Amino acid sequence: MERNTCVILALDVTDRKEAIRIAEDVREFVDAIKVGYPLILATGLRIIRELAEFAPIIADFKVADIPNTNRLICEQVFEAGADAVIVQGFTGRDSLDACIEVASEYRKDVFVVSEMSHPGGAEFMQPVAEAIAKMAAEAGAFGLVAPATRPERVKRIRKLIGDKLTIISPGVGAQGGKASDVIAAGADWVIVGRSIYKAESPKEAACEIAAEIEAELRGE
Ligand code: C5P
Repeated sequence: MERNTCVILALDVTDRKEAIRIAEDVREFVDAIKVGYPLILATGLRIIRELAEFAPIIADFKVADIPNTNRLICEQVFEAGADAVIVQGFTGRDSLDACIEVASEYRKDVFVVSEMSHPGGAEFMQPVAEAIAKMAAEAGAFGLVAPATRPERVKRIRKLIGDKLTIISPGVGAQGGKASDVIAAGADWVIVGRSIYKAESPKEAACEIAAEIEAELRGE
């Protein structure tokens, strides 16, 4: 995945035409599009190939099963044309290894959730987030999903993993996180959903976030 604008769109709409219209509208300001259960359950897996015309696709299924089921899920995701899959780390090393094996067969990427961005993410996941991050690095994942709502956690995780993994960070805008803060804390990409797809002009909203990040990276 190429890093240009450092913005990933979380496209959680449930209408196929709207999804395609927004993806086309924002394509120059996003490095990837994240799709998950809302859009795929509503429109079917083929939406992945349709959207892949505009940007690389990250399939956010937060895969969390036994190794064999994880393998079957990841095969479906990559056959459908996704460039990366998001999986949970709390199911353990064997479950993660199964995802990474399939991804390497398809030459695709795995992102591991270390800690979720909503308030409940601090209840059970935060205490084990650092162990999950270490495991993801040892297992050879491409990146981690860490919370933009808690930039100090992103900073801590970055310190722990060094440059071994990329960090993508959801929670900017609607959940309260600020794009420039999260990039300053060490994230490679921010993930933004409602603040872009619900905006009057998704293109302008994406452009503004990309400009805020660019200014942060230039040190302004
Ligand atoms: O609309 P909003 O910008 O809050 O969307 C954030 C996206 O990131 C949603 O698709 C949500 O499911 C996802 N996500 C998250 N926290 C995580 C992992 C994924 O908010 N830890």
